[in-house]
Amino acid sequence: MAKVEVDLAKIPLGKNLVVKWRGKPVFVRHRTQKEIDEANRVDLSALRDPEEDSARVKDPEWLVMLGVCTHLGCVPIGESGDYGGWFCPCHGSHYDISGRIRKGPAPLNLEIPEYTLGDGKLVVG
Ligand code: FES
Repeated sequence: MAKVEVDLAKIPLGKNLVVKWRGKPVFVRHRTQKEIDEANRVDLSALRDPEEDSARVKDPEWLVMLGVCTHLGCVPIGESGDYGGWFCPCHGSHYDISGRIRKGPAPLNLEIPEYTLGDGKLVVG
């Protein structure tokens, strides 16, 4: 299957990039230290789909996930919603800065695709 390569130097701190992979959007966020701390502060017992932030990233600075809402597949909007992450406008699902579902009908966290990080590059696939 085709892989997609992203030059990480092109994504400033605190910004998102969306790339296409296998016909689906992939969200890449260059997270700030504040966002990383916030993602790690969350009480797992409060989560619908409990997952440590550290289990969702290879490097805390880079969050890489499929941009497909786990409810019915719409594309969530970045930098929005009640939890500082993504908001799906179709039926109102809110995801946090780790892409974990926090509110709304979606049952699961945003999915993490296969990827590698190294030499300033992200390779998805
Ligand atoms: Fe995202 Fe329904 S598809 S909330």
